[in-house]
Amino acid sequence: MTGATSGIGANAAGRIAAQPNIRLIIGARGGHSGPEGAEVIPLDLASLASVRTFADDVKKRLGGAHIDALVLNAGIQTSDTTQRTVDGFEMTFAVNHLAHYLLARLLVPSMSDDGRLVITTSDTHDPAVFSGAPKTLDPEALAHPDKNKGGVRFSAYPASKLCDLLTARSFAALAKVQPPHVTAIAYNPGLTLGTGLNRDAPRLMRFLIGIVIPVLSLFRPQFRSGTPERAGEALAQLTLGEVNPPPGRVYASLARGELTFPDPSALAQSDEARDLLWRESATMVGLPLHTEQ
Ligand SMILES: NC(=O)c1ccc[n+]([C@@H]2O[C@H](COP(=O)([O-])OP(=O)(O)OC[C@H]3O[C@@H](n4cnc5c(N)ncnc54)[C@H](OP(=O)(O)O)[C@@H]3O)[C@@H](O)[C@H]2O)c1
Repeated sequence: MTGATSGIGANAAGRIAAQPNIRLIIGARGGHSGPEGAEVIPLDLASLASVRTFADDVKKRLGGAHIDALVLNAGIQTSDTTQRTVDGFEMTFAVNHLAHYLLARLLVPSMSDDGRLVITTSDTHDPAVFSGAPKTLDPEALAHPDKNKGGVRFSAYPASKLCDLLTARSFAALAKVQPPHVTAIAYNPGLTLGTGLNRDAPRLMRFLIGIVIPVLSLFRPQFRSGTPERAGEALAQLTLGEVNPPPGRVYASLARGELTFPDPSALAQSDEARDLLWRESATMVGLPLHTEQ
C-alpha cells in the first residue's frame, strides 16, 4: 500500500491491519512506522529508481507468495508545477500517476488471480465537477509542462487523477484477457477536509480552504466534505472485498458517505485516451507495452 501514513490512507491502513491473518506491507518515505503489525519499506514516489527498489524488496519478502490487494493511494496536490522529480518529470504527474503506473506494472504480475488493485483517483478529474479538469489528454505535456504556460498550474492535479482512473481501466481491460484476473478499481473519496493533502499550499490558501469551503457547502452540495475516517473505511472496504463494484464498473465514488459506481468523465471513458496513456507511460518508465506473464 502507498499513501498509508496520513489522512485517508492512514485510516484505511489501520482498518486493514486490524483484520485477522493480514500481512500489510507499506511503502513510505523515511521515518514512518504505520499501524501495528505493518511492515514499512522505504519508498519515494518522486523517484522511479526508488519504485523499482521497493517492488524488488516486496517480491523478495514475499518469496513467491501472491499479493491479494495492491492499494495505490498516495497523492500530492500542489500549484507549483515547476517542481521536477530526479527523473525530470513534473512532480504531480510523476508522484500521482507515473510512479504508481510503474509500481502496478511491476507488482500486478505477482498478484493472486482474484486480487484487487485499488487506485485512488478524484472526482476533480471530471469537468462536470471541477472546471479546471482536463478535456483532452496529452501525457507528454503533463510530464514536461511548458514552464511559461500558466494554465497547467491548477489542472496538474485533476489531470493526474484522470491518469489514475485511466490506468485502473487499463488494468481492468488487461485482467479480462490475461491472468491475474484482478479486479481493478479507481476510488474517489470525494472532498475530504482534515487530511494532509493541502499541506504544501500557501498558508493563506490553507486558511481560506478551511473557512471558505465549509461556508460554501451550506449552499452548494458539491463542497460538502466527508471525513478521513469514512473515506478510509470505504477504501478498506473496497480493498478487502467487503464492497464490490457491479460487473464491468471500475469507478467507485464516495457520495455522502455511500459508495456509488457512477460513470466517470467522458474522457475517462475513452479507450483511445486510456491506450495513449498506457503507451506513453510505458515509454517514460522504460518498459515494453506488455510484460510477459
Ligand atoms: N482529501 C481530499 O479531499 C481528496 C479528494 C479526492 C481524492 N483524494 C486522494 O486521496 C489520496 C489520499 O490523500 P489524503 O487527502 O489522505 O492526503 P494526505 O493526508 O496528504 O496523504 C497523502 C499520502 O501520500 C503520501 N505521499 C505523498 N508523496 C509521496 C512520495 N513522494 N512518496 C511516497 N508517499 C508519498 C504521503 O506520505 P507522507 O506522510 O510521507 O507525506 C501520505 O501518506 C490521494 O491520492 C488524493 O489525491 C483526496
